[in-house]
This record gives sequence, structure tokens and C-alpha cells, in this order.
Amino acid sequence: MAGQLQISKKIEISKVSDECSLYFAQTPTHIPFPIKRIFFITETYTLLPRGYHAHKKTKQVLFCIQGSIKIIVDDGKKREEIILDSPEEGIFLDRMTWIEMHDFKEDTILLVLASRLYKKSDYIRDYHLFHELAKKENDKA
Ligand code: TYD
Repeated sequence: MAGQLQISKKIEISKVSDECSLYFAQTPTHIPFPIKRIFFITETYTLLPRGYHAHKKTKQVLFCIQGSIKIIVDDGKKREEIILDSPEEGIFLDRMTWIEMHDFKEDTILLVLASRLYKKSDYIRDYHLFHELAKKENDKA
């Protein structure tokens, strides 16, 4: 992962190598919220972009534990592009961060740790609505 991140935050975790590589993370040392849910994306053969949403309340940490992926994040004011290609480096995404996932390399595995249980109503899938809500929050702050 190159460069300075402004919207997302780099999460570095530890690795122990003997006959294999073992990576570990715990809260709050590495993960800045109690983990309520995990999910992972595998069999990324179609190469179709995913995401295109923001969460009203859920915070997430993403790790690409195999392969590579391009993540685009947006806080309503600016956009940031991140290549995730190392299990040792993840990103933290705060609530109200728009995310797009592109360029999955074949056989990529993306692991996501989430701060809340799945709830359909937590998703914002319309970029213009997200932009409006993010602007309202920024104006209040
Ligand atoms: P979605 O988050 O929309 O995937 P992406 O952003 O990668 O396109 O989820 C796809 C489907 O999976 C959707 O029908 C909801 C379901 N789902 C759950 O039921 N629980 C979960 O924790 C997640 C992440 C998704």
C-alpha cells in the first residue's frame, strides 16, 4: 500500500513465520471496534466491481488475505484509491464511507470485519443520497 491515506486508515498487523505464515489481529490493539460480524469474498473469477455503497453506522476493517484488489473510498468530499495486496496491511473504513471494489485478481480473498450485525437498512446504495447526507454531517461538524 503506497502513499498517505486520508479517508481510510492503514491497519498493520503482525505475522509469525515458521512452517507457514500466521497473521493475527485483536481489538483494540489492531481493530478499533469490537467485532460483531465477519464476511469474506472468494472465487473472484468474474472480475465484476462490487460495493458501490456506504454504511450509515457500520465500521469495517478490510484485509486482502490473498491476491489483490483496488479499493476506491469516498467521504463525500474527496476520493482515495488503495491497492490492497498484502495480508499484513488492512484498512479501516469509518461509517459513512462510500466504497467501490475493482480489479479483483483471480483467486483473491477479501476478509471484512464489521462493527455491527447485517442490516439492510444500514446501506446507502445511491451515491447522490450518500453525498447529500455526508455533506449535511460535514456542515454540522
Ligand atoms: P453486499 O454487501 O451487497 O455485497 P457487495 O457490496 O460486495 O456487492 O451483499 C450481497 C448480498 O449478501 C446481499 O443480498 C446481502 C447479503 N449479505 C448478508 O446477508 N449478510 C452480510 O453480512 C453481508 C455482507 C451480505
